[in-house]
This record gives sequence, C-alpha cells and structure tokens, in this order.
Amino acid sequence: MRAIRETVNELNALRPESQLPRWEPLAERGPQAAQTTATILIVDDVELNRRLLRGMLKASSYRILEAKRPSAAIALLEHEDVDLVIVDLVMPQMSGPDFCRALKANRKTHLIPILMTTSVQGVDNEIASLDSGADEFLVKPLQPAVIRGRIRTMLRHKALIDSLEEAETILFALAQSVEQRDKYTGLHCERLAAYSIALGRALGLSKAEQLTLYRGGYLHDIGKVSIPDNILFKRGLLNEEEWKIMRLHTIRGEEICRPMKSLAPVLPIIRNHHERWDGTGYPDSLAGENIPLLARILQVADIYDALTTARTYKPAFSHEDAVQIMLDEVGRGWRDPELVPLFAELILKGDDYDPGFWSGDASMKQSLENMREELTK
Ligand SMILES: [Fe+2]
Repeated sequence: MRAIRETVNELNALRPESQLPRWEPLAERGPQAAQTTATILIVDDVELNRRLLRGMLKASSYRILEAKRPSAAIALLEHEDVDLVIVDLVMPQMSGPDFCRALKANRKTHLIPILMTTSVQGVDNEIASLDSGADEFLVKPLQPAVIRGRIRTMLRHKALIDSLEEAETILFALAQSVEQRDKYTGLHCERLAAYSIALGRALGLSKAEQLTLYRGGYLHDIGKVSIPDNILFKRGLLNEEEWKIMRLHTIRGEEICRPMKSLAPVLPIIRNHHERWDGTGYPDSLAGENIPLLARILQVADIYDALTTARTYKPAFSHEDAVQIMLDEVGRGWRDPELVPLFAELILKGDDYDPGFWSGDASMKQSLENMREELTK
C-alpha cells in the first residue's frame, strides 16, 4: 500500500497545479490491516441493540460509529470512510432494505458491505434484505462468534475491492499523466470520454458500453508511457523507424491494462483505435465492421478532438472545418461512413440532454462526472 501512495504522489507531481483534481488513493489498508483498523457503522434505533453489538466487537479494536436513524447514518457516511454497515431491518423513518437501496444507489457508498440484522423471523425478510443489496443477513439473538466471523469475512472482501479500485485509480492517473505531458491537449481525456458517450448514446448503446467508452477515453493512449520522449514529442515528421515505435502504443497499452479483468471490455478500444475502415490502419489491419464498434466510436472522437485542438504544428480548426476534414477521410475510405456523419450531426447541433458536455471546460468535467455516477449505478 505504501507503493500506491508513492506512485500517486509521483503522478500528482506530473499534473499541472491549475488543472484536474489531485488523485487520492483510497484508504491505505490491506486485508490484514482491515481486520484491526476498519470502521464499522451500527445503525439501529434501539440503544440496547447498539450496545450489545459494540460489546461483541470490543475485543476486535474496530472503530465503531453509531447512528440512531437511517437519515443520520446517511449524513454521517457523507464525511466518514466506513468499511462495513450493520443495520437493523425494522427502523422508524426508513426500513433497513430502503436504507440498503439508498447506499447501493450512491457511488460513494455502493461498495460498502452491509450486514442486516433482525429479530423478526421469516425467510421473506431475508429475501427482502438480500434483494435490497444487503450482503449478509443474521437473525437475533446474535451469536458473538458468528457475527465476528461474518464481519471478518466481509471486511476481507471489502479490502480486496479497495485494492482493485486503487489499481484502477493508478491506471487512470497514469493515463492522464501521459496526456498531461503534452500541454497542448488540456482536457483531452475528458473530451474524448464525453464525445464518445454522446455518440454511444445516439447509437442506443447500453450503460455498460457507455461506461467502457468513458474508460476508453482515459485509457486509450496509456501505452504512450512506453514511447520515448524524443519520438512522442518530436517536432516534425517521424521517420519510418520512429513510426514503427509510435504504433506500438496500442499494443503496449493493451498489455498494461490486460492484467485487470475489470478492464477487459476496454482492451479492444486501446488496441484498435488506430485501425482504418479500409484496412490500412494499425496494429491489426482490421477493416470495416471487423474493427470493434467502441474502438471506431473512440477514434471518431479522438480525431475530432485532435483537429479542434491547437497543436505545435497547427491551429485549432473550427467545428465545421474539422467535420469537413473527417468527411473527406470517409471519402478516402479511412473512416466509418455511418459514424462520422452521425457524429457531425451531433456535434453541429450540440446536445440537448446536457449542454455542459460540449463546453470543453470545467462544466464539461462536472457533466462527465455526473454521467459516470449514473453509469456506475
Ligand atoms: Fe492512440
């Protein structure tokens, strides 16, 4: 975990102060540490129940928080990092299952494991609580050894999820540091994610596919970490040998992300975002619809952003000029003949569900963050 903190600090050092939020690793704890320093929130309106639970967990050195009501628990979760919630099935204001649903619908709390307890017998209650997202269900009277065992298991799973999230956070930070090294591209990753999701929505893609596009917006060029600076930032044309190395960023990117199973859907974007419709692209010379759809979508967004952004060797083109250049490339056989006109239509008319997407500034970042939350629910 120490290595994660150091890595994130190094990545933060690469990021300009004025742009983008700092990366923060999640709580620094491994499976072992989670058993002794985890924070547990007990939500129960009956004081005796809370006291009993606290007594059962006393020897385990957990940090225990208490809330009498679900509303107080939700308010507390806004500013506390909690590793496990124990909640009673029957409470005033909001039932245990409703409370569960509220936590699972919130990105900040949806990964917190929930143990539901009740003194009301019946399999229906168990089904209702598990349906609402509770991870475990125990009927009172609670047996101290049983509840301690369940909590240990749940905290081990939580620590594993945290470490997976941290690994993904590092990859995203790494990908952005690559983009940030080129000071002319600004919010390139965010714009790509926003444009791609907009195009994905217009095509009726699922939430999961839109989320993959979001991730692809950030990770597609992560392989550029392996490209030497003298090639990556060369002013002027690359020679044949340098091009060979530059093209490898697609394969290197796939290799970097492949070990993370959760990123499997993003791999085709990373590998194939430089293919061409007529088969003259790289690295696999795929043609037409053999090029994965999500890679084609990201490519359209990538090209549009490259054209409309000022670079050392060219000014920023207007929307209209950029679209015309892309349509010319369709004529040459390079680009998807259906996606490019659809994107052109979208971009020229703006977007009616969230104008912030198209602003290219801080409000676009906020819109994108809102979108990511919606997609991950
Ligand atoms: Fe690329």
